[in-house]
Amino acid sequence: MDKLIIQGNIPLTGEIKISGAKNAALPILAASLLIPEPIQISNVPQLQDVATIMSLLGQMGVRMSLDDKSNIEADASNVTSFFAPYELVRTMRASVLVLGPLLGRFGEANVSLPGGCAIGTRPVDQHLKGMRALGADIEVENGYIKAKAKKRLEGTTIVMDIVTVTGTENIMMAAVLAKGQTIIQNAAREPEVEDLANFLNALGAKISGAGTATIIIDGVEKLTGGTYSVLPDRIETGTYLTAAAITRGKIKLKNARPETLESVLLKLQEAGAFIDTGSDWISLDMKGNRPRAITLSTAPYPAFPTDMQAQMMALNTIAEGTGIITETVFENRFMHVQELLRMGANISLKGNTAICTGIEALQGAPTMATDLRASASLVLAGLAAVGSTTIDRIYHIDRGYECIEEKLTQLGARIHRVPN
Ligand code: EPZ
Repeated sequence: MDKLIIQGNIPLTGEIKISGAKNAALPILAASLLIPEPIQISNVPQLQDVATIMSLLGQMGVRMSLDDKSNIEADASNVTSFFAPYELVRTMRASVLVLGPLLGRFGEANVSLPGGCAIGTRPVDQHLKGMRALGADIEVENGYIKAKAKKRLEGTTIVMDIVTVTGTENIMMAAVLAKGQTIIQNAAREPEVEDLANFLNALGAKISGAGTATIIIDGVEKLTGGTYSVLPDRIETGTYLTAAAITRGKIKLKNARPETLESVLLKLQEAGAFIDTGSDWISLDMKGNRPRAITLSTAPYPAFPTDMQAQMMALNTIAEGTGIITETVFENRFMHVQELLRMGANISLKGNTAICTGIEALQGAPTMATDLRASASLVLAGLAAVGSTTIDRIYHIDRGYECIEEKLTQLGARIHRVPN
């Protein structure tokens, strides 16, 4: 397994471009199953997770081509299989996003249950509740979701018991070709949900309210081909801003969307960062100062995103003062803490709360990645630490960060990948 080696304690400076959002590209690619004509999707990040869903869709008969500028052409005019095997789904839970489009267009799907992952059990009961409400028969047996709709799905009102991003997206995709109107209440409001709705509307769907807690979908007969550009990745943006904050640097991010990560920008300002923004860029300057510790609780959008929790924990390890971070979305999302402790951090855990008192400097150490955002947290810690940090099992990072060592090198970091 590849490793990253980082020589830390160098302030990041310079400019980089933000890539397209992984968590928008994945549902948008899954939604290609709904369209019986070629579509062009641009600004798709070149990530392992994108490759995974492309190979799943390819197995189903979707013809796809990727040029070298992150543009994908997909043609689902001849889908031959409705099967998503365990071998693929277990490597990427978001594969469950093919369930809604398959049921919506073909009335049939046989999709492996995603199972849990390092950060939690991550059930899909809300996805299945929505599909049943739309009229599908759902059996769960031998680890597979066997779904069938004897006739066209019928719109209805669905009240989500819990705010779920991919649950909202799956139900939205199932509803776009249903008969009549579907109302999703207590819907997820993440920008990626809105981006999926904008994509579907560009191809003839009738969705309103995406980005709010109530989404209304008026079913249409069919969708048509078209083109769409994926929105910038707000979590990649927040990760690089935090990398600049933890190293007391000064950077500018282009192709960013400041309005999609307000809660993160406000917390970084609380930590002492000077932030400036434009319509498609964000700059952060620490003016050489040590960050101040921040206290936060993660929660669904627009509150502080759980996908930025580990990164802010790394910031707290070298900040001035004590910061308290509470994780309310997932039940086991502190896997990075053990590794940060090995670098000298002063963190104590009490249930879903981490209390961290900042120290002057972390020490570089050999570490191991466990999940995508925990890995990002270790990269940030390594960038700040005195000495050399090795991060093993970085396939976790490659799932969600496009060209991470190239982008960090552009910002002056001393980082390189060692193939194992
Ligand atoms: C999406 O996962 C993201 N992934 C996650 O990003 C992100 O952390 C998460 O939303 C929360 O923002 C993609 O968009 C591909 P949820 P998702 O359903 O949709 C519970 C990353 O790092 N729940 O919103 O799977 C669930 O257990 C990844 O990029 C149910 O109980 O998350 C969790 O506690 C990690 N039943 C909470 O809801 C359900 O049917 C929120 O999960 C569905 C979810």
